[in-house]
Amino acid sequence: MADVTPSTSKKKSAKAKPAPKRKAEAPEAKTNGNSTDATGLRTKTDRPLTSSRQDLALDPSTKISSSDVCVFYGDKQALFDVNLDILSNHVTALIGPSGCGKSTYLRCLNRMNDVIDIARVTGNIIVDGIDIYDPDVDVVELRARVGMVFQKPNPFPKSIYENVAYGPRIHGLASSKSDMDEIVENSLKRAGLWKEVHDRLHEPGTGLSGGQQQRLCIARAIAISPSVILMDEPCSALDPIATAIVEELIEELRENYTIVIVTHSMQQAARVSQRTAYFHLGYLVEYGETDQIFQAPRDERTQNYITGRIG
Ligand SMILES: Nc1ncnc2c1ncn2[C@@H]1O[C@H](COP(=O)(O)OP(=O)(O)OP(=O)(O)O)[C@@H](O)[C@H]1O
Ligand SMILES: [Mg+2]
Repeated sequence: MADVTPSTSKKKSAKAKPAPKRKAEAPEAKTNGNSTDATGLRTKTDRPLTSSRQDLALDPSTKISSSDVCVFYGDKQALFDVNLDILSNHVTALIGPSGCGKSTYLRCLNRMNDVIDIARVTGNIIVDGIDIYDPDVDVVELRARVGMVFQKPNPFPKSIYENVAYGPRIHGLASSKSDMDEIVENSLKRAGLWKEVHDRLHEPGTGLSGGQQQRLCIARAIAISPSVILMDEPCSALDPIATAIVEELIEELRENYTIVIVTHSMQQAARVSQRTAYFHLGYLVEYGETDQIFQAPRDERTQNYITGRIG
């Protein structure tokens, strides 16, 4: 189990300890000694992947595998030994009472906890066969592969066009103006916003309605071609109509992306997800098919939460 302190991992030498035994190993998913894995997540150096990291190869249907993940804020432990495999092209809902660690866990998946000075993460998180807390992983690239949409729509104070073009520009994804126009148009189309904004692309993104702003943030996230999208209560600031549009969009996006969504709405979790994880006081209590979690929960704490007795 690698013990990694994200905010200081560059200063301390985070040693790769022997990898834990993985559940299922798919030979075709194994790395081949190049620094690029099958789905494109690269390490910062060109050095071949070590044998311990080859052992981390995943079942192809597992996109993200977490083992024994603990998070501490200073002395306080917020997550306890979370073991959770997230499947490709599935929507996975994270539910549970306020303060149970949903956002903390979500932030582990693209190392957003690195930006919190007192946060410390231990355990392993493997995305596409790469240990994302390995000190050689380029965090900027990781966050491009594992994008995030926040609770409150947060467009940049720039035009609609620039909001979407920003990421592709810094990642060098467009070689010409027409390339960039195409990326912007396609991203806005995939986010279901193009029809509403195609004739006002150079107006400020902040001038859009809340629901439009959230779809703009989704367009911004998908413009850099992530393979995973993390969403932390993406609809909590939206009205029911905008929520329905975003939920429909999540269903469409699942074809091409793996989505992890935190929600306080049980109805939303039931509508949009195929898998649900129930967290309680920092523990992952139950994880399974969404229908099973809602119709036949195995743990009493899950049962109490979904029937409104706690939370
Ligand atoms: N930046 C931080 N510094 C210190 N403690 C934190 C920080 N962020 C979260 N915590 C603590 O970690 C625990 C889990 O918080 P987290 O935000 O992950 O919960 P949550 O399940 O997302 O809650 P909510 O549903 O209210 O958003 C809480 O006890 C919280 O107080
Ligand atoms: Mg939260």
